[in-house]
Amino acid sequence: MTTQVATARLSLEGVEYEFPIVEGTEGEKAIDISQLRAKTGHITIDPGYGNTGACKSSITFIDGEKGILSYRGYPIDELAARVDFIEVCHLLIFGHLPDRAELDHFKHDLMHHSLIHEEMKKFFEGYPPSAHPMAILSAMVASLSAYYPERNDDRDEKLNIIRLLAKLKTIAAFSYKKSIGQPYVYPRNDLSYCGDFLHMMFAVPAEPYKVSPVLEHALNLLLVLHADHEQNCSTSTVRMVGSSGANLFASIAAGLCALWGPLHGGANQEVLEMLEAIHRDGSDYQKYVEMAKRKDSGFRLFGFGHRVYKSLDPRANILKHTADRVLDELGHKDPLLDIARELEAVALNDSYFIERKLYPNVDFYSGIIYRAMGIPTNMFTVMFALGRLPGWLAQWKEMKRDPANRINRPRQIYTGENRRAIPTFEQR
Ligand code: CMC
Repeated sequence: MTTQVATARLSLEGVEYEFPIVEGTEGEKAIDISQLRAKTGHITIDPGYGNTGACKSSITFIDGEKGILSYRGYPIDELAARVDFIEVCHLLIFGHLPDRAELDHFKHDLMHHSLIHEEMKKFFEGYPPSAHPMAILSAMVASLSAYYPERNDDRDEKLNIIRLLAKLKTIAAFSYKKSIGQPYVYPRNDLSYCGDFLHMMFAVPAEPYKVSPVLEHALNLLLVLHADHEQNCSTSTVRMVGSSGANLFASIAAGLCALWGPLHGGANQEVLEMLEAIHRDGSDYQKYVEMAKRKDSGFRLFGFGHRVYKSLDPRANILKHTADRVLDELGHKDPLLDIARELEAVALNDSYFIERKLYPNVDFYSGIIYRAMGIPTNMFTVMFALGRLPGWLAQWKEMKRDPANRINRPRQIYTGENRRAIPTFEQR
């Protein structure tokens, strides 16, 4: 719910117009310009939508200046400490933390929809072993719509949400097994969501597999921290594609493709590759900080900076300590963790980064934890996707129910040629 708290006045070519100022539940304010073009004939220009609120949402709140993130009113650090990923999925998608019976029911549903259609296994065979798992994942998710068509009622919608949540981890693990040439491992109903994913990733037929509680706990935490992040690039893509009436699977497949980019979810892979490159280069992190400051170098310090967070990314804060703990518990020594710490210290004391308010983001430490867990680098963005899925589902569902939802259709300011005649071949 937003309420109108004041009126903004715009003076344009001698005429004054009024627009409502609305306020959200955490006090953030917006000028409602939905009537701007109709009243004034003007549009706004806002490349990258940094000042544009595309929707009202009751799912996730971020205060980037104060480093606050909460899902449905619960602070992220408390959720990370006290509830598991499946409870967070329920919270985001259905709006409340489940009671015991709801949780049992939800877990039961997720277990019993985790298989993928046997026919779909053939799709994996068509990919070269070098295929990026995000290419496979997005294509597979779009393909699910061929098996589970939507008939446009609430029951189908809920079932397809459960199906996607249950099956994404199976598809993700199968794409990994395919890439290393091992047989697919089928889901097991006696394991937790995270335990089952680890089992499908790492079990081999000849040997018994026991899920490590350290890995299970670390994975659970990572997924909770990634579960939603309001109107980021992939979530906005899911909403935008969904606004045209495209089905759930098509909308989420589009979100997966948006997440893949190195400036978004693909940054965790880039961070690790960057740390490896620094390591190979004799750990001269100062050189890389200097390079990131030179615009002509084309190099950015991956895992640094955020469109919204301008003090700290609370997720990065939690993961920094988690990386220490997980490596300790697993008895791993990773020189990349030392490089990451040094790099962070140098960057945080450098005026370039201070002035631009560039701090480590969620991707800075997550890759080091995934690496310690034995997850290969090209699967990192898949891991981000597993975590972000409940957020996309919740946002898609909210968008569908929003009476203000219209097909997303931004405008532009045209800067091309004015009307002209087509030249003859001789005139070209
Ligand atoms: N290294 C060096 N300079 C940077 C960096 C960086 N990582 N990030 C931003 N800057 C500079 C940028 O060059 C610009 O400088 P100037 O004002 O002199 O032109 C200034 O800081 C503002 O940057 P911007 O690109 O206008 O900021 P943005 O809000 O459009 O971009 C960002 C945000 C996250 C894409 C960007 O900070 C970046 O590219 N970071 C590295 C990639 C990364 O880690 N992405 C993961 C984001 S967190 C996970 C997620 O939610 O997707």
